[in-house]
Amino acid sequence: MPYFNLFDSVATELNIVEQNLITSIDTNIDILHEASVHLIHAGGKRLRPAFVLLASRLFNQDITNAIPMAVALELVHMATLVHDDVIDNSMARRGTITVKKGWGNKVSIYSGNYIFAKSLAIVAQYNRSDLLEIMADTSVKICEGEIIQMFSSYNVDIGIKNYLRRIERKTALLIAVSCQLGALVSNAPAGHVNNIEKYGYFLGMAFQVTDDILDLVADEEILGKPTGSDIRQGVITLPALYAMYHSKHREELREALASPEQCNLNTARIIDMITDSDGIDYAHYVSQRYAVKAQNQLKKLPDIPEKQVFYDIANYILDRDY
Ligand code: IPE
Ligand code: IPE
Ligand code: MG
Ligand code: MG
Repeated sequence: MPYFNLFDSVATELNIVEQNLITSIDTNIDILHEASVHLIHAGGKRLRPAFVLLASRLFNQDITNAIPMAVALELVHMATLVHDDVIDNSMARRGTITVKKGWGNKVSIYSGNYIFAKSLAIVAQYNRSDLLEIMADTSVKICEGEIIQMFSSYNVDIGIKNYLRRIERKTALLIAVSCQLGALVSNAPAGHVNNIEKYGYFLGMAFQVTDDILDLVADEEILGKPTGSDIRQGVITLPALYAMYHSKHREELREALASPEQCNLNTARIIDMITDSDGIDYAHYVSQRYAVKAQNQLKKLPDIPEKQVFYDIANYILDRDY
């Protein structure tokens, strides 16, 4: 089942989000327009806007008010992707070339900033400082996550705590906030806002652990972005952390992961050592645990049919292949 089936109940609103994404980045500076539109047209799962809309629907049937927020969340996400592809030196994303590949680093930096600023402008239109504050705080945390990751590269002594901290910041919080803001624009009661935000947090952790698994084992065509990228960049993810303790080649693996040259040249051998060690199964197990934690949060919400899709998404992301 593809993602868009899970989002059926908000399909109409997602279509409007799609149109508004294009108009939201409108500019008469051609190059800025081309680079930004490129990434929107390339597609993507639209997970964050879907979460805004679905969370909003939990507390209000009419979710028109959540549409700009959904646009804003996808824009922040896109801005981080444009910058992330510069940092990760990635040439493919969403099944097409990255902004980095098509327009270079300089345009990528400005396009990312531009898209991000547009997003804040949309949130500002709600005239609610609480919403703007949440968005700004989360963006700060994403920067922290990406920077921690950059400075942890090739460091084979980092532990699981470092890993969890960076995936929380770079990914889980934005998904948590998508749920939180969706609920807030529907004026949900504080306790319930908190439950759905926590759902998003745990779901986001599971989502990034899965992304890290996919980086090692996915089919590049289906994934739409390069595999092996984490290894090439010296980014040590959960399966690698496990393998450094449990692989029968752990000394060789540690030495390889600590070396930029080997990460680049011996990527396939490194991936083999990780997959042979059961590191992937272990990461699957961790991601499953997070998905269950996410689902447990749902039990605290009122018993309404709109809740079911949140259970289904948590199950689905564990088995996703893109
Ligand atoms: C990619 O996010 C970056 C991560 C946080 C793993 P998605 O996997 O949601 O990317 P798109 O939006 O579908 O392209
Ligand atoms: C990026 O994580 C998360 C953000 C964009 C903040 P990754 O580097 O793992 O994302 P992909 O795999 O390039 O999509
Ligand atoms: Mg990346
Ligand atoms: Mg990744």
